[in-house]
Amino acid sequence: MSDTTAHLKANSQDIEFPILKGTYGNPVIDITTLGKQGFYTIDPGFLATASCESKITFIDGGKGILLYRGYPIEQLAEDACFLEICYLLLHGELPNTQQYEKFTNTICQHMPIPKEIHCVLNAFKKDAHPMAMLMSLISALAGYYHGKMDINNPDDRLEAAYHLIAKIPTLAAMCYKHSCGEEIVLPQPELGYAENFMHMLQSTPHRNNNIKPVLAKAFDRIFTLHADHEQNASTSTVRLAGSTGTDPFASIVAGVAALWGPAHGGANEAALNMMREIGDESHINEYVDKAKDKNDPFRLMGFGHRVYKNYDPRAKVMRATCHEVLDEQGCHDDPLFKIALKLEKIALEDQYFIDKKLYPNVDFYSGITLNALGIPPNMFTVLFALARTVGWIAHWHEMLGSKDFRIGRPRQLYTGSAKRDFVKMADRK
Ligand code: SDX
Repeated sequence: MSDTTAHLKANSQDIEFPILKGTYGNPVIDITTLGKQGFYTIDPGFLATASCESKITFIDGGKGILLYRGYPIEQLAEDACFLEICYLLLHGELPNTQQYEKFTNTICQHMPIPKEIHCVLNAFKKDAHPMAMLMSLISALAGYYHGKMDINNPDDRLEAAYHLIAKIPTLAAMCYKHSCGEEIVLPQPELGYAENFMHMLQSTPHRNNNIKPVLAKAFDRIFTLHADHEQNASTSTVRLAGSTGTDPFASIVAGVAALWGPAHGGANEAALNMMREIGDESHINEYVDKAKDKNDPFRLMGFGHRVYKNYDPRAKVMRATCHEVLDEQGCHDDPLFKIALKLEKIALEDQYFIDKKLYPNVDFYSGITLNALGIPPNMFTVLFALARTVGWIAHWHEMLGSKDFRIGRPRQLYTGSAKRDFVKMADRK
């Protein structure tokens, strides 16, 4: 019988805390009363700290397991489409036929972008990073919809979710078109979600792009693989911002900002650029040695993970998808893919990576796949944000609906100056 109470002995006190158990994963010690006992805990990077209770996604880093609402990612990536995943993450169950039809119609109805938004990108040079553009477009939506929804009303929260899921592909495509100096292509609601994104990306106002089903399925699967990942840095940012009661679109802007970092969602762009820099299989060992060198800040992009200390289950699916796309595009001998396969083999056999449990993560193959799909590297994280928007807004919705929801406000260990009196400028040395 596992313990239900934890004991802390400190300052001649024996403090008891309840141990809470979830469906899976480590039990948690509930320390909410610790402050009153005169202590805080400290856990930089939150390596061992649960920020909340959630029913959305579970990851077992040791076993390489990822579940969306209990369903294994491998099964969902194989048999479900992204809009089914959106419904599942938001509502907790896979939709039946009627529910799915109603949901897709709702998303279609929410696709149009307010015309005022179209001129936002004129403020950006063409070569500005599309992630900066995306943040401004979503901020403009906050300006447009703020005050029109009551975030304490679950139906209004879902309305915000529908707007975001429906509009984010168009916003992403707008960033791409602006960076290419091309005219925006508006969504065609009769197309599927991934097909519509490809249409807005690759068509022009005068010529519709020929959408290859294998490639559309690849985009849809990439969106599914990136849809949610429990309390990662960007999702935790959305939760913290949202906990102040701010506008939902503003909370998502905060998530996009956090995702942009190369240690997080920016890793796919960094991984592809790294493979381009390696350039040839003969240079791989030089980069692996750099990654192992404690004095060199270089890290092998696309490897390692805070939670996965085994293979990232998404990376396996992504590798298979990469093969399919390269075959479809007739570039199965893509030198970058060959470098990736060789790099993966070398790293997985290297004692440093074995000891530190560093495996390829979802970003390792996504960059090569997106490159083969014709996506420029600076758009990779925009596509990650497109997919992760549903995860962010599902967590935001869950948080605001929870009974013990309160504003996030961590404490600190203060190691600064002791109290001292002000000294006038003339009297300072
Ligand atoms: C994503 O959190 C999520 O769920 C994120 C994500 C999601 O879907 O939301 O999964 C998406 O962000 C995937 C991760 C993408 N990032 C990268 O691929 C960048 C390269 N990876 C590293 O930066 C790193 O692995 C992190 C940031 C991903 C994880 O950092 P941690 O958990 O803080 O790991 P760490 O820095 O404590 O590393 C442990 C050890 C260190 O060595 P020691 O100090 O023990 O000697 O492993 C080393 C690190 O130096 N290490 C690496 C390495 N990653 C970790 N060494 C070389 N190359 C690497 N990639």
